[in-house]
Amino acid sequence: MIIKAMELMNLQAYSHLIFLFSTLLSSQSIDLKPVRASSPPIQALVAPITKDAATSLYTLSLSGNQYLLDLSGPLLWSPCSPTHPTIPCSSGEYCAAVAPGAPNFGDGQCTCTARPTNPVTGDQAIGDLTLTDVATNATDGNTPTAEVTAHGAVSSCAPDRLLRSLPRGVTGDAGLGRGSLLSLPAQLYGKVSLSKQQFAICLPSTATAPGVAFFGGGPYGLMPPTQLDAGAALSYTDLVRDPMRPSTYSIRLRGIAVNQEAVPLPAGALDRGGGGVTLDTALPYTVMRRDVYRPFVDAFQRAMAHVPRMTSVRPFELCFDSGALGFTRVGYAVAPVDLMMASRGGGVGNWTVFGANSMAQVAPGVACLAFVDGGWAVESAVAVGGFQMENSLLVFDEDASRLGFSGTLLFVRTTCGNFNFSRD
Ligand SMILES: *[C@@H]1O[C@H](CO)[C@@H](O)[C@H](O)[C@H]1NC(C)=O
Ligand SMILES: *[C@@H]1O[C@H](CO)[C@@H](O)[C@H](O)[C@H]1NC(C)=O
Ligand SMILES: *[C@@H]1O[C@H](CO)[C@@H](O)[C@H](O)[C@H]1NC(C)=O
Repeated sequence: MIIKAMELMNLQAYSHLIFLFSTLLSSQSIDLKPVRASSPPIQALVAPITKDAATSLYTLSLSGNQYLLDLSGPLLWSPCSPTHPTIPCSSGEYCAAVAPGAPNFGDGQCTCTARPTNPVTGDQAIGDLTLTDVATNATDGNTPTAEVTAHGAVSSCAPDRLLRSLPRGVTGDAGLGRGSLLSLPAQLYGKVSLSKQQFAICLPSTATAPGVAFFGGGPYGLMPPTQLDAGAALSYTDLVRDPMRPSTYSIRLRGIAVNQEAVPLPAGALDRGGGGVTLDTALPYTVMRRDVYRPFVDAFQRAMAHVPRMTSVRPFELCFDSGALGFTRVGYAVAPVDLMMASRGGGVGNWTVFGANSMAQVAPGVACLAFVDGGWAVESAVAVGGFQMENSLLVFDEDASRLGFSGTLLFVRTTCGNFNFSRD
């Protein structure tokens, strides 16, 4: 047994060596041989999520670098060194996974390319697929336990200009998108033996304490005052497919209520045909298509008619004198917004958005309803942005095709900034 294991280790070391040589000696294509970890499954990997104050976007720390946290991106991409390894077209699985990329026939050789996209500007490029190592920490759910490296993850090269409008200092884009062979979660599931093929994000509300991403199963521990497994408080709704945008996470809403009164929306406005409801961390705030936005904002305004208004502050319309608003554990005391989810078993589960996730403090004394008018041309009826997801745990369970959501953790006196990142 022991000898067998040592042989195996030698073999692995040897293949790494060959890999290293072929990478060092030339920029020629190398063959892809995914190596599966043979050690016992790791419960989960953990990585910090940081909020960027200037852009209100979020970054994920991988291998000590910051990547844009891009929930609907299909790929991992970043600028490459000129001598990066490439992937030959003969490894068909990967080339096929990035269908829109055209093969590159430079040097008489066919190498796989992809089409990396900046999700903030919509800017696109064509880049080689290459290999990279992704280092994170394993966790027992409460603290990091040991570093784990996923060797030879596939990522796409991109020109430097593709980083424009992303937070300062980011290295690239971490696409967590659905159903893509090349998304970060799919690659971690393939390279590291994890207890469960699911991931969770908990976005921080300030730049001062990082939030947390978990790849794998719970518990998802947050520190005292009450040591809490945030995974214990989840409700579930189905993830549905958007054939036009397969890598987005879409859900079905049965309606929207303000102050527990249904917002009168045009028939079918929230249905798939009408564009559907997606989750998108590359949007700082939720964007609604005009036919949903107008009745929603009007309903909010009616519910808040007793509070003095202030001049609008772009991109928001409805702003209030925040000195006239009461304050609660869950933020300003404003009319709650219920996103009424279609849940398993036919009942309705609500994702209730309280002041902390509906009102943005844009200046001292001024707080605005943090939902944005997307006009008519947007692809989703509602695209839920990062601000509305802050301080709640969201679990993306691809196997069961469902989304777990905790609602605001502020009710249980904790925040996403309460994961203990110190290691013994
Ligand atoms: C693992 O966790 C430790 C402790 O928080 C941290 O110093 C280290 O940078 C982490 N490693 C990676 C690869 O993120
Ligand atoms: C969900 O929200 C609606 C509208 O506010 C409300 O009528 C309903 O009772 C809520 N359901 C649950 C389970 O809280
Ligand atoms: C955080 O984890 C470290 C290492 O396990 C531990 O020593 C420390 O007490 C923990 N901090 C809190 C506040 O629980």
